[in-house]
Amino acid sequence: MRLALIGYGNVGKAFARLLESRRGVFPFRICAIHTARHGTAYSLRGLPIKPAFGPSAESIDEFLERAQSDVAIEITTLNPATGEPALSHIRAAIARGIHIITANKGPIAHGYAELRDAAAFHQVCFRFESTVMDGAPVFNMVRNNLPGVKVSGFTGVLNSTSKVVVAALREGLTMEEGIRRAQQLGIAEADASYDIDGWDSAAKTAALANVFLDARTTPLQVDRRGIGKLTPSRVQRLASLNKTVALVSRAKLTPAGVKLRVRAEVLDQTDLLAAVQGTSNLLLLHTDLMGTVGTVSISPGVEQTAYGIFSDLVDIARTL
Ligand SMILES: NC(=O)c1ccc[n+]([C@@H]2O[C@H](COP(=O)([O-])OP(=O)(O)OC[C@H]3O[C@@H](n4cnc5c(N)ncnc54)[C@H](OP(=O)(O)O)[C@@H]3O)[C@@H](O)[C@H]2O)c1
Repeated sequence: MRLALIGYGNVGKAFARLLESRRGVFPFRICAIHTARHGTAYSLRGLPIKPAFGPSAESIDEFLERAQSDVAIEITTLNPATGEPALSHIRAAIARGIHIITANKGPIAHGYAELRDAAAFHQVCFRFESTVMDGAPVFNMVRNNLPGVKVSGFTGVLNSTSKVVVAALREGLTMEEGIRRAQQLGIAEADASYDIDGWDSAAKTAALANVFLDARTTPLQVDRRGIGKLTPSRVQRLASLNKTVALVSRAKLTPAGVKLRVRAEVLDQTDLLAAVQGTSNLLLLHTDLMGTVGTVSISPGVEQTAYGIFSDLVDIARTL
């Protein structure tokens, strides 16, 4: 299968390394890569991990036209306020009848229902497992393993950067030092304030709500407060009381509609939501037939994001 990558940063490179490590077993080839500043690269026979980029394609349509791929993989920078440019990239791929995978939660948080319906109309697969909890099965788990189940809400700790920052504050480091740590791990958003101010969590909350609760919402509608005001002394004082702080996402289906909120909550260290350390994430889905069921991802990194894309790709290959 021929793949076109739109974006080639941390995730794109990790995905290319993963494909390289499974070459011979899975028949996937990256035949085109488009970036914002580094240019565009094409090769029918497949591109190396460090491709030679030529001049940038003038538009996403020009890129997709020349790439002639079976699947496009959208992994550009997140814009939690608009979902762009990913939203337009995905629309363009779907309109051309190209299967699409994204790790960018922006479009799921801003335009899921429209994209889902357009994909169904054009009879293409649209997958987005890595948008929440990297490669840990969330969307695919519900789709493939929970038939007939209705999700009525969820609770999660979904942002790794804020966890790394809180851990750094507990050690007496500053917020900036904590952010640098997350950046060195390659897990922070290009603009780390999106993590700190709760935008990344709000985008994931909106994405989950759009997919599971048909909320047709956006991150702007999530009642959001980040961890920006935390200080080392506050976190250390809480630690002395066996408490910690985590950025918690909550969603609930109520008679008045879907209620969504992201908050820096004070939790007991023994609380399930606080128990997973490091970059680890946890999501509990509240359902009708299966009660509460969850997914935990211990210390995910960018390789697990790449795996989520890979699992979507295998899922698409199986359905063809
Ligand atoms: N990193 C993670 O652990 C992680 C986890 C889950 C989900 N994600 C999501 O995955 C996506 C990619 O993350 P990343 O860490 O790989 O980001 P990144 O390192 O900042 O790379 C972003 C890439 O997108 C390209 N790009 C930006 N705007 C573009 C445009 N208009 N047209 C074409 N290319 C464009 C950039 O081009 P240049 O190279 O020319 O700048 C760069 O190659 C984000 O949406 C992020 O939220 C990341």
